[in-house]
Amino acid sequence: MHGPARRSVAVVLGLGIILPLSANAKGIDREPFGQLADGTAVERITLTNEGGMQVAFLTYGGTVTAIRTEDRDGQLANVALGFADLGDYVEKNPYFGSIVGRYANRIAGAQFELDGQTYRLAANNGPNSLHGGETGFDKRVWTAEEVTSADGLAVALTYRSPDGEESYPGNLDVRVTYTLTDADEFRIDYEATTDRPTVLNLTNHAYFNLAGDGTGSIEDHELTLNADAFTPVDDTLIPTGALEKVEGTPFDFREPTAIGARLRMDHEQLVRGRGYDHNFVLNKPEPNALTLAARVREPVSGRVMEVHTTEPGVQLYTGNFLDGTLVGAAGRMYRQGDGFCLETQHFPDSPNQPDFPTTRLAPGETFRSTTIFRFSTDRT
Ligand code: GLA
Repeated sequence: MHGPARRSVAVVLGLGIILPLSANAKGIDREPFGQLADGTAVERITLTNEGGMQVAFLTYGGTVTAIRTEDRDGQLANVALGFADLGDYVEKNPYFGSIVGRYANRIAGAQFELDGQTYRLAANNGPNSLHGGETGFDKRVWTAEEVTSADGLAVALTYRSPDGEESYPGNLDVRVTYTLTDADEFRIDYEATTDRPTVLNLTNHAYFNLAGDGTGSIEDHELTLNADAFTPVDDTLIPTGALEKVEGTPFDFREPTAIGARLRMDHEQLVRGRGYDHNFVLNKPEPNALTLAARVREPVSGRVMEVHTTEPGVQLYTGNFLDGTLVGAAGRMYRQGDGFCLETQHFPDSPNQPDFPTTRLAPGETFRSTTIFRFSTDRT
């Protein structure tokens, strides 16, 4: 296995001590990352920006395997949960870093109606369909192509989901572009077109730990969410249809609050989710505006992550189903709450909820959506 090209630099400390450091050289590195049972080769692609920040991902599922960012002392660490080997991604990935589609999150009763026709989906989460069914976009091999972008280093991942795949209508052409800017932004642009009316909801399911992958609980991370309301759920995690004000509830993150501060409150919604596993209704001046959805600060490392999105919602998921059965790339076992997700999205079960923003896509239209994860530190 060979990593990205490295160049040597030196740092001069006080007292005239010179230490060689190896920094990552700016560029795009592609390397083999094993093959699937049917022989399909999988690649790992690593983007490295001017400052040495890196985003690594696979052609399998567009899976983001690592995001290396600096702490307030300039130390790089990987802040995304993931596995060391392709085999683990294929066999047991709880969507670490995955592109999720066609429909991220849940569809009630694993069915929906569109233009008078009922579509029955795989019920892979109790009675509901979750994250695109049995073989969603997270388990498909995407075609990767380097693209020129004024914003930074960019790779477009494309996949054609054939008509009827996982019982969804229409040939759906999906293009997801990953861009790493020199301003330490990891930008994801989604685009899709169809040849028959269909529904879709695309996200990336990265799990974060801003103290570093494998360092334990994320409960001390301070979270701010730009959301006055959330969508409460029934006991199978399907929205009831209500938009509930966060005020006076453990879902009020309008001021920076430790994720763990209210996590064990005896609140019906937290009990149903086993923690946070809820969609927040983002405050927007107008639909599709690219606005700040969330800001997270990890107090020990000083790392800060902002999430900006054009999507109407974001799912806060606190790794409630991590149960000590998975071991990550850092050689550390993951326990409940060792990572958090901020999945930008349309609201869960929108195809069955006429009052939610629509997830319908018709021929001739292009679905477009952007999410930016911007990394910095609290160093002043
Ligand atoms: C989403 C869901 C969770 C869980 C995870 C994957 O965040 O809302 O309930 O399924 O994906 O484990």
